[in-house]
Amino acid sequence: MSTRMDDRSQFAGRVGLVTGAASGLGRSVAVALADAGARLVLFDRDADGLHATATQCPGSVAVAGDVSQGSDMARAAEALDALGPVSLLVTAAGILGPTAPLADVTEQAWDRLFAVNVKGSWLALKHVLPRMIAAGGGSVVTLASGAGLAGNATFPAYSASKGAVVLMTRSVAASHTAQGIRANTVCPGPIETPMLRETFAAAGEGAAEREVIFRTRNPMGRFGTPDEVTAAVLFLLSDAASYINGVALPVDGGRLA
Ligand SMILES: NC(=O)c1ccc[n+]([C@@H]2O[C@H](COP(=O)([O-])OP(=O)(O)OC[C@H]3O[C@@H](n4cnc5c(N)ncnc54)[C@H](O)[C@@H]3O)[C@@H](O)[C@H]2O)c1
Repeated sequence: MSTRMDDRSQFAGRVGLVTGAASGLGRSVAVALADAGARLVLFDRDADGLHATATQCPGSVAVAGDVSQGSDMARAAEALDALGPVSLLVTAAGILGPTAPLADVTEQAWDRLFAVNVKGSWLALKHVLPRMIAAGGGSVVTLASGAGLAGNATFPAYSASKGAVVLMTRSVAASHTAQGIRANTVCPGPIETPMLRETFAAAGEGAAEREVIFRTRNPMGRFGTPDEVTAAVLFLLSDAASYINGVALPVDGGRLA
C-alpha cells in the first residue's frame, strides 16, 4: 500500500467506472486515472463528448447512456465485467436544474433533477457496489457540491439534490466499510466547466453580474480548475486516504469557511 500522496502508479491496471465522463470534472478525472494506467468504463449521455474523452483514455471503453435509466447503467456494469474486477467508482454526471425559488420549480424539473443527480448516483452505486464487494473492496468518490453542504438561494433544488448525494455517500461508508469499501464525496465550489457557464447564463441579462458575485464572494477571488478538483478526487480514491471515509470535502477556495 502506497500512502505517498503523489503516487499515482497505484491506479495502474485497476478498473473503474466514471460517470459524466464526457465533460468538465468527469473528463478531467477520467483522463488523470487513465494517465495513471487505470482502465475505465466512461459513461455519459453525450456520445460525442465521450468519444473525445475516450481518445485520451487508452484501454478504456465508452458507454453512452442516461444515468437515470437502470437499463443503461446495467450496460455500463456489463462493460465493467469485461474489463475485470472493479475497484474504483467516480460519479460526476449531474445537472444544474432550475435556478428558481423552490415555489417556482415545476414538478417535472424537480423530478428530472433528482432523477439525474440522486437516482443516477444511486444507480451507479447499485450496480458497482456488489461488484466491488465481490472484488474484495474499492474506493468510491461521488461529486456533490458546496451547495450540498449549505443552503443556496440561487439554485435551491440543486442544493437539495446534492445534500442527498452527500448523505447517500456517507451511508455507503456507514454500510460497506467492513467489505473493504471507502466512500467519500467531493463538494466543489465554482469550478471553470461548462456547468459553471450554464449557471451564469441562467441569469439572462444578469449573467455578468452573477459571475462577478460568484467570483468576489470567494475568499480566493477566483474560480477553481478541473485539475484542482481532480487532485482531491484522486487523493480520496488512493491509499494515501486509507483512513479517510465518509467525508464531504469542500474544494472551494474557502467559500464555506
Ligand atoms: N463546475 C462546478 O462549478 C461544480 C460545482 C459543484 C459541483 N459540481 C458537480 O460536479 C459534477 C460535474 O460537473 P461539471 O462541472 O463537470 O459539469 P459538466 O456539465 O461539464 O459535466 C456534466 C456531465 O454530466 C453528463 N450528464 C448530465 N446528465 C446526464 C445523464 N442523465 N446521464 C449521463 N450523463 C449525464 C453531461 O453530459 C456532462 O458530460 C456534477 O455532478 C456537478 O453537479 C460542479
